[in-house]
Amino acid sequence: MDYENKLVLAPMVRVGALPFRMLAAEYGADITYGEEIIDHKMLKCERVVNDYLGTTDFVEKGTGGVVFRTCPEERDRVVFQMGTSCAARALATAQLVCKDVAAIDINMGCPKSFSISGGMGAALLSKPELIDDILTTLIRNLDVPVTCKIRLLKSPQDTVELARRIEKTGVSALAVHGRKVADRPKDAAKWSEIADVVAALSIPVIANGDVFDYEDFGRIKKATGAASVMVARGAMWNASIFCSKGKLPWEEIKREYVRKSILWDNDVKSTKQTIKELIMHHSCLEFPEGKAVNKCETVADLGKLYGEEEYCIAVQESRS
Ligand code: FNR
Repeated sequence: MDYENKLVLAPMVRVGALPFRMLAAEYGADITYGEEIIDHKMLKCERVVNDYLGTTDFVEKGTGGVVFRTCPEERDRVVFQMGTSCAARALATAQLVCKDVAAIDINMGCPKSFSISGGMGAALLSKPELIDDILTTLIRNLDVPVTCKIRLLKSPQDTVELARRIEKTGVSALAVHGRKVADRPKDAAKWSEIADVVAALSIPVIANGDVFDYEDFGRIKKATGAASVMVARGAMWNASIFCSKGKLPWEEIKREYVRKSILWDNDVKSTKQTIKELIMHHSCLEFPEGKAVNKCETVADLGKLYGEEEYCIAVQESRS
């Protein structure tokens, strides 16, 4: 996996499932992260080859719920991101999935109480020994690249010190979200503090924060010197952000996303959440469209709502 000059789709819970990753890749994303999956949850799964869809599914034993779905087409660009607080569990999880993905990433930035209380996400930022343990265990035992994604610490010096320590574990790249744990998404990302990390390391750094247009990829790269750029909300609101020719109308992207969700039989909750994020950003959830999305119970209902009934039928017929 090459981390130089890449446009990267950031990990996003509920949003970053297979249809959205495929959509982003279609518009030009070079590397696509899956949503964070907690090691405990993944360890309850078995790997199932789904001949019907042409996917590889990680299915929770007992419930039958699909926890992670991927396909051979994205094998060389998809990154499996996990939430973990234990090297042994992280390794067992990575071993389950590593043959089907391009790289493994550890989330060290999530500030949500669920993550912090479980010792995961941003809780790791204050436990450098545990970071070493998790990353070196993975790197020693896996053939795929291992990376992690951090937030900024209280001072630029602290961030640089941690980044240097992470580099020593042998990670292939480091993604830096230019916000501190207490920052809100509306707070400006501190590109200059990402630049401090870039200047101190020799491995590729992936800069993340406040990329909302194609031109921002170049701006953040210039400001930070980072090897590659990662975008979350800018992609969620319009996946064609990766397109050098400019963004397509969001209504068009939404329809394409619905079609991909039908094609890959996506979880309806994840599909609804992604569409609602789009509506909330560009319009208003209280409008009839938002209310109608809320009422949908299946991805086929969403297909009907967006005039994709014929596509639904065509997909079904092509598989029977
Ligand atoms: C996120 N983010 C995130 N980060 C992560 O490491 N794992 C995850 O699963 C998620 N989930 C997630 C869901 C949603 C809906 C959003 C908006 C964000 C954080 C994300 O990857 C990114 O670091 C920040 O959003 C900053 O980038 P932008 O939005 O300024 O481009």
